[in-house]
Amino acid sequence: MKLWEGRFDAPTAKNADLFGDSLPFDKQLWAVDITASLAHAAMLGSCGIIPLEDAQKICAGLEGIAADIENGKLEIAGAEDIHSFVENELVARIGDAGKKLHTARSRNDQVATDFRLYARGSYDNLCDSLVNLVNALLEKAGQGVKHIMPAYTHLRKAQPICAGHFFNAYAEMFMRDLDRVTASRERANVMPLGSGALAGTSYPIDRNITCEMLEFERPCENSLDGVSDRDFVAEYLFDASLVMAHLSRLCEDIILYSTEEFGYFEISDAYSTGSSIMPQKKNPDIAELIRGKTGRVYGHLTAILTTIKGIPLAYNKDLQEDKEGFFDAEKQVINCVDIMAEMLGAISFKVKRMLTAAEGEFCCATDVADYLAKKGVPFRTAHSITGKIVRTCIENGKTLQTMTADDYREFAPEFGDDIVEAVKGKACADARTSLGGGSADNVKAEIKSLKKRLKRYL
Ligand code: ARG
Repeated sequence: MKLWEGRFDAPTAKNADLFGDSLPFDKQLWAVDITASLAHAAMLGSCGIIPLEDAQKICAGLEGIAADIENGKLEIAGAEDIHSFVENELVARIGDAGKKLHTARSRNDQVATDFRLYARGSYDNLCDSLVNLVNALLEKAGQGVKHIMPAYTHLRKAQPICAGHFFNAYAEMFMRDLDRVTASRERANVMPLGSGALAGTSYPIDRNITCEMLEFERPCENSLDGVSDRDFVAEYLFDASLVMAHLSRLCEDIILYSTEEFGYFEISDAYSTGSSIMPQKKNPDIAELIRGKTGRVYGHLTAILTTIKGIPLAYNKDLQEDKEGFFDAEKQVINCVDIMAEMLGAISFKVKRMLTAAEGEFCCATDVADYLAKKGVPFRTAHSITGKIVRTCIENGKTLQTMTADDYREFAPEFGDDIVEAVKGKACADARTSLGGGSADNVKAEIKSLKKRLKRYL
């Protein structure tokens, strides 16, 4: 039965129903729909808008429906949307009292309320997954404390760092995501219920009662905005998109670093795949798939932003398009964050290769220049002398590590015997003790700081 059929002579066309019905996807909102209706009915009863015993009957009926859906006895089908389904079912179970549930309410404020209740849970789930991921990264950073790897600019080797620094960088990104998700959740936690169709209601409702029961921060203060605001959907999708961007960057690094060409990381067999034709292949499919899914989540963000951009106040059916992208993005982002946390545990370091790479391609040249500058040579001069050393090494097939102290002194008298130690990968990385730098000590301190910051979310 349609909730609104009284005004109509003829039923809607079958295809119009198929096209417009949202039940196939909004049935996911059944639990929050019932939760919101329980609060609404209780408020109607306590404000004397409907008799208390009707409110009690409604609540008992709704609880019965919830229990039956929960244990699989009641199939959600045969209605336009989840709101109609629950109301029809309630009336079928308790009769006329059920017909009073929708007093002082519209599906417009109902769906906006349901979806915010649902989104709160989505934010909480994403938070939990992100905490788990940051922990996995910190674990990896801890394992990387004693190892050295090259860091890059322009995808050309630049300077050696402690390997833990790399993982902490990603932990920082996901920490920001946690902060963002938490702030977005706060903004989403405002209650539209009581906005009615668009202009509020003439019944003496008490929105503070429902607000408290549903644990919202406050009731919204403008009914037109209340029924039509979907910022929280866009914000979730943006937050999810940025999480995906960070994951995708991490995937790209993992893919590169696990190639034969780089060879710093090994992804265990459990998280790799083979080829149906090339027997030698071991492919990083999981990382590639996460990178691929990023596009899909961005797509949902673009979709909601485009959907809401031309909507006149207040509710329009366009807004029904807010759900499917959200549900899909939620599923994708949680899956991706969780599988990444798992896969990180399956990545091992190829320690020798990392160190060789960190010392190769004259990665320690900055340290040679810094060595001279610390002895009083102006940095620009030191830079130029080091440039000459690099050029001579290239011409003679030497490296900064195979040069002797005497070789160095041919370029500048300031070089002492300790230059030989100073150009080793580990010494170069560990020399970067400035706050936020890539030394092992800093990595340990940052792990501590991140763990402390993470406590807010435990
Ligand atoms: N299925 C609708 C949605 O998701 C529920 C609200 C319907 N309201 C209306 N005025 N048609 O947006």
